[in-house]
Amino acid sequence: MSTEQPLHLILDTDPGIDDALALLLALASPEVSLEAVTTVSGNVPLTQTTRNARALLALAGRQDIPVAAGAERPLVRPPIHAADVHGPSGLGRAELAEPASPARAATKAPILISERIKAAPGTITLVAIGPLTNLALAVRMDPEIAQQVREVVIMGGALRVPGNVTPAAEFNIYADPEAAHIVFHAGWPLRLVSLDTTQQVGLTRAQFTPLCRPESLIGRSIEAMLAHYFEDFAPRAGYERFHLHDPLALAAAFRPELLRWEPVYVDVELSGSQTAGATIAWFRRRSQTPPPNVLAATAVDIEGFTTFFLERLARLL
Ligand code: BDR
Ligand code: CA
Repeated sequence: MSTEQPLHLILDTDPGIDDALALLLALASPEVSLEAVTTVSGNVPLTQTTRNARALLALAGRQDIPVAAGAERPLVRPPIHAADVHGPSGLGRAELAEPASPARAATKAPILISERIKAAPGTITLVAIGPLTNLALAVRMDPEIAQQVREVVIMGGALRVPGNVTPAAEFNIYADPEAAHIVFHAGWPLRLVSLDTTQQVGLTRAQFTPLCRPESLIGRSIEAMLAHYFEDFAPRAGYERFHLHDPLALAAAFRPELLRWEPVYVDVELSGSQTAGATIAWFRRRSQTPPPNVLAATAVDIEGFTTFFLERLARLL
């Protein structure tokens, strides 16, 4: 039995099917103390991502964890969503029970993020698995949190691989590039888990079978979420696997040894007519290369992570 203290974690999220699996992974992991969940407009609009976060916590019997809603729209651009991938509700065909009140924290997400970091300097790990609007607002409001946060872990970007929204850009960065630009330049310790690694950890429907146990409410909910993806979306898109983007980023916060990390300078393209939201990574150092601003995941232990993910989620069934 480990005597180490759990990692105090705030999860900023836009559930989203893979967000839901990341949230469940956090709840299933004794290394993590989930302090709060903050929500952002992303895969679906903010009212829905907030409702989904609360319903998922209720599903897992963890309504003690506060949920704070954040930004309803990106800093500059109109909102974009990904309801084709995640279904109109954001959680595929799952019909989760309406969460009972009290539930929602009165505080707005950027304020909660900032207050929690300032209240316990050096201890909070912030994991962001949606567009980065809330993080940008928090660090603009209180720049000192950049020195007080333990670490920021982001799922986003496409460094050496194509994007998944445009040929250049990944969804979380494309949805709010101005916010991502602020976050990448805020000077906090940043780990970046991009499509380069998350697209390597995909499971087929058959591989999810051990989690889709009909006698478990959580198992039935996972099955219903994935049914939308595998039956409604994947055949049209030509996918055979569900990518565990957000669970991999969550795991990176407390099992970093599952990935290989390289210090890199990463910037966000804001003005390109076809490249907005692209993450430009300077892997080869030249004389003019700015100093690294992120630790980027460049390889993943596919087998190790997959086994870890399935074992952990099975604990909740
Ligand atoms: C990211 O986009 C969203 O649709 C997923 O939830 C994930 O956070 C992957 O590009
Ligand atoms: Ca997400």
